[in-house]
Amino acid sequence: MTAAKKASAARKPRNGDNAKTAQLEASTMAPGSGLTTNQGVRIPDNHNSLKAGVRGPSLLEDFILREKITHFDHERIPERVVHARGSAAHGYFQVYKSMSQFTSADFLQDPALKTPVFVRFSTVAGSVGSADTVRDVRGFSTKFYTREGNYDLVGNNIPVFFIQDAMKFPDLIHAVKPEPHHGMPQAASAHDTFWDFASLMPESTHMLMWAMSDRAIPRSLRMMEGFGVHTFRLVNSRGDSHFVKFHWKPRLGVHGLVWEEAQKIAGLDPDFHRRDLWEAIERGDYPEWELGVQIIPPDKEHAFGFDLLDATKLVPEELVPVQRIGKLVLDRNVDNFFAETEQVAFHPGHLVPGIEFSNDPLLQGRLFSYTDTQLSRLGGPNFHELPINRGVCPFHNFQRDGMHRQTIARGQAAYEPNSLAGSGVQFRVDGGSEGFQSLPDEMDSPKLRRRSPSFDDHFTQATLFFNSMSAIEKEHIIAAFRFELSKVAMPAIRQRMVDNLAHVDQKLARRVSQGLGIDAPDAKAAAGRPGFRAHSYKGKLSVDESPALSMVEHAEPNPRTRVVAILVADGVDSASLKPIREAIEHAGVMCKVVGPHLGKVSSASKRQVDVDQTFANTGSVMFDGVLIPAGAEHAAALAATGEALRFVDEAYRHGKTLCAIGEGASLLDILALDGDPDKAAGVLQAGTPTVNTGDMASATQIAQEFVAGVARHRHWERLFKLLAQ
Ligand code: HEM
Repeated sequence: MTAAKKASAARKPRNGDNAKTAQLEASTMAPGSGLTTNQGVRIPDNHNSLKAGVRGPSLLEDFILREKITHFDHERIPERVVHARGSAAHGYFQVYKSMSQFTSADFLQDPALKTPVFVRFSTVAGSVGSADTVRDVRGFSTKFYTREGNYDLVGNNIPVFFIQDAMKFPDLIHAVKPEPHHGMPQAASAHDTFWDFASLMPESTHMLMWAMSDRAIPRSLRMMEGFGVHTFRLVNSRGDSHFVKFHWKPRLGVHGLVWEEAQKIAGLDPDFHRRDLWEAIERGDYPEWELGVQIIPPDKEHAFGFDLLDATKLVPEELVPVQRIGKLVLDRNVDNFFAETEQVAFHPGHLVPGIEFSNDPLLQGRLFSYTDTQLSRLGGPNFHELPINRGVCPFHNFQRDGMHRQTIARGQAAYEPNSLAGSGVQFRVDGGSEGFQSLPDEMDSPKLRRRSPSFDDHFTQATLFFNSMSAIEKEHIIAAFRFELSKVAMPAIRQRMVDNLAHVDQKLARRVSQGLGIDAPDAKAAAGRPGFRAHSYKGKLSVDESPALSMVEHAEPNPRTRVVAILVADGVDSASLKPIREAIEHAGVMCKVVGPHLGKVSSASKRQVDVDQTFANTGSVMFDGVLIPAGAEHAAALAATGEALRFVDEAYRHGKTLCAIGEGASLLDILALDGDPDKAAGVLQAGTPTVNTGDMASATQIAQEFVAGVARHRHWERLFKLLAQ
């Protein structure tokens, strides 16, 4: 099958077993022949407006022109206040075994059941047109179209949040968004207002550690974890409740970019993540995650030394293991970005029986916010009727009318109770035992506008996070804090921030403060400032480190869907390249040929080699590894251009696997490896395999070693050594 055919086959699993896909089909319009107005009247000429004479003025009566222009004038809707930039896909969720012990949720009972889902990934701070690889939290929202109604798990790729109470959300977002006087910077936290706010809100410290880590610059949306963040509750059919934290664990592992790479990609391809997700699904490389749950019995609510209702805290996996209970597969791209990705409306308050909120005051505020904002974003109260938002189960109530109502409700009665709706039988919904039953909860407390003292510890988990990082991850966090704070014009803000960091780790604070033109970090000064709350909660976190938090320590090598560049020029040894490339692709790694120009280069044996990209239109940052084939003339030509050398050098500095064959090794001369094994980690050299004698073993071995290096994602020991220089 050709690549194009394969792609189009992958785009159309209009299989009957996805109820949402089948439902959407009814709202889908295929390209038609000819043009009509929105009223269906045939348009004879789509180039010329109606005029009084060929050179005369246009006529107001031209209803065809007016309709077209009017519709165009109103094409835009407000972008989301936060999480404006997103990309989404359809798929399904399937539980591994019944979770009836913990929850009555229908979609978590039957391993044979595939529940349709729609997942939207997003950045938080940037506008809809901002770049994908900016340093930011990523949204990870899943709409499960269950048989009992829609359930939305509206999470992030970071398990904690900046603030503890929804009251501070508008302040947080105003601080991180472009500064109101000049509208800068776009999609970046590296500016005064964000760090002013953060430094005055020590409760943000734990989240700041995550935001400054490589978690905030993911390699791919397919390589991110997701988290429900808040504590929720699972309730079984007997009414027993357990606290729960939700996790999404990606099959491809969790991987980040390095900061310089993220910045360069933002220029080279602002759609890097969006494209990666789209193309993977088009190819049939369906991204997968496992749903994980940490289940906590009610009597353990206060057993951890922090409050489960505090969204700035996580439950270390070492204390409560994550049980993997099902899988999420994204297998279909949207047909229309606006109708689906833009118009989808998530809401943490979309629950199904068997799943409940907790009293987390951040979550409670969210329960108000989403419908409220969607009323203006989607233009009225009927956005649940938009095709992407409709449930796949029937819905019925007496909510009526409003902007853009689509449902045509029959009958005389639009109220309950009534006796007119159905042949004289009284219709009453008044305290039944079916449907969503809120968990009975004792409430006997004074009305207070206050923060619980159990939320007061702002640093223990920030320290836990830092302690759990590998050496290179710690360096990246320090560098990120320095980068961000060096962009802050007010020295007092920089100072306040490093003073706070002194409560996380003295060395971290000292290292960050270096080069910022401020005094040494002063933990005491931080402790004396408003907003700083002394830790008074009973108990203590029983772990000092949580290895599960490190991306590097936990990386499981996986080469699948990684992309490598093969650098070529005229004279490349295509005969030895061919079996190596085939073996690399066989392992699931994608190869792109990068050359001095588009079209073809001619090989040493006068064969034509297709070039996919050029040194001018791509860069090493777009790849996970670099292969330099053999060929004397080709190697000399590449070395002479400078572009290829820069490509190799940059890939090396970003810790990527490099493999040079035969004469291609001359391009590695620019790397000062100094015989140091750490510096040479992931830099492979091989003699030219003698494939013309039929000896394929050495070609296969080169490919295997290269693939194994790429599967490691990065050679961190090399990066650490380079940083130390
Ligand atoms: C743990 C904290 C939070 C998480 C994980 C979170 C996550 C998300 C995500 C993933 C989206 C994007 C939804 C989409 O893809 O369409 C979103 C949108 C939004 N969030 Fe949050 N959020 C959090 C806190 C809050 C809070 C506290 C508020 C307000 C009180 C809030 C207000 C909003 C609003 C207004 C939108 C735009 C919704 C839309 O227009 O569709 N969020 N949030």
